[in-house]
Amino acid sequence: MKITVAGTGYVGLVTGVCLASVGYSVTCLDLDEKKVEALRRGVSPIYEKDLEEMMAQHRERITYTTDKKAAYADADFIFIGVGTPENEDGSANLSAVYAVADDIASYAVNSPIVAVKSTVPIGTCDKLEKYINDKMKPGFEVRVVSNPEFLAQGTAVRDTLKASRIVVGAKDAKAAQAMKGLYEPFELPVILTDRRSSEMIKYASNDFLALKISYINEIANLCELVGANIDDVATGMGYDNRIGRLFLKAGIGYGGSCFPKDTKVLFWLSEFHGYEMKTVKAAIDVNEEQKFILIKKSRKYYDTLAGKTVAVLGLTFKPGTDDLREAPSLKIVPALLAEGAIVKAWDPVVGDKTRSRLPEGVVYCSSIDDAVTGADLCMILTEWPEVVGYDVKSYAKLMKRGIVIDGRNCYNTQDMMGKGVFYESVGRLPVTPEA
Ligand SMILES: NC(=O)c1ccc[n+]([C@@H]2O[C@H](COP(=O)([O-])OP(=O)(O)OC[C@H]3O[C@@H](n4cnc5c(N)ncnc54)[C@H](O)[C@@H]3O)[C@@H](O)[C@H]2O)c1
Repeated sequence: MKITVAGTGYVGLVTGVCLASVGYSVTCLDLDEKKVEALRRGVSPIYEKDLEEMMAQHRERITYTTDKKAAYADADFIFIGVGTPENEDGSANLSAVYAVADDIASYAVNSPIVAVKSTVPIGTCDKLEKYINDKMKPGFEVRVVSNPEFLAQGTAVRDTLKASRIVVGAKDAKAAQAMKGLYEPFELPVILTDRRSSEMIKYASNDFLALKISYINEIANLCELVGANIDDVATGMGYDNRIGRLFLKAGIGYGGSCFPKDTKVLFWLSEFHGYEMKTVKAAIDVNEEQKFILIKKSRKYYDTLAGKTVAVLGLTFKPGTDDLREAPSLKIVPALLAEGAIVKAWDPVVGDKTRSRLPEGVVYCSSIDDAVTGADLCMILTEWPEVVGYDVKSYAKLMKRGIVIDGRNCYNTQDMMGKGVFYESVGRLPVTPEA
């Protein structure tokens, strides 16, 4: 059996490698020659725990290529894992998905199952099947199934191998059973449904989590105003199984390549159908404002940050990934620079590839000590283990003024007492050096 995966990003590459890990021969196709060339050398173009080790372990079963014809010609299963960014109006840009569809129609010389892993608006798989089949060579046809991906960056390999569920949306029972059979070695629950419900499960899940984050962030903002502590509030809520403990961490909001676009796309889709999803709109609005609360908090200490040195700890949208897409840093750092602040940034994985997404003028530091030394203020944007485990006494020791504004609640407020710092976090009372 031949499996081809189109796209070697977070979803495509991890899918391909995990399928190889259970014994399948997999062809990973990408248009980006540099990526493919790196993959052939065993180098992953993305930072993801355990991925390179697995690529090495299963290299005999994985082919990396840019050759579309070879990849699609006799594939039995084709997984689509290409990007679906949002358009300016909030709708999903499906040009990469349709480019793959064109290639499948041009090169496939059997009748493969095409599994759409990319997150696509409800109804896409129906349209895609017709689109490809209208162009296929006589005698061949594809069956398109929806197979949304639920992995989270930073834990992508584990999330794939130990997924909470595999969702397959199919039009015909044969395709559904073929997909179920393919996933059998993973020994995971498989939920079979129709294509539209499957596509909706993906958006409904992501948007629910985004809503949960925005909700706890609003509760945190109110906690500050009424003198309550968000840590205790979230713990108290999380014990209720109907609510659950996860995604109740207050902070500066969600980022990444999924939640921001998936909320906007679903909202766009609801409006397109003449219905306004007010809850999703609220999640989007709260998240947008939440990014700027650290700058608002800095006003307590400085009227303006012009000429002040600000240490920024963490740039990625969350720890464990090198992804800067929609990271709060992309809004906060330019705002700091625009105000005239000197920004000294530290992040353990952001390299040249991603630095280009931030404005010029940022001073990149190779250690936290380096970044905070001489700073007038420190902002924490990503809860990297290095930040969480940092010796907090160093802030007062190394900074010009020990003011730490923590957008990820990395430290217990008790632990910050007596450390000579002003410590501001989200949804908790501030700590002063006298405390
Ligand atoms: N990143 C996540 O955590 C995550 C989780 C679940 C679902 N998703 C969804 O999965 C999809 C892919 O996301 P991603 O983050 O892996 O994207 P990505 O941008 O990391 O990777 C996409 C890859 O596809 C390649 N590509 C583009 N056009 C191609 C074509 N015609 N043929 C072959 N390759 C092509 C690109 O070069 C790139 O390497 C999106 O729809 C996203 O919403 C992402």
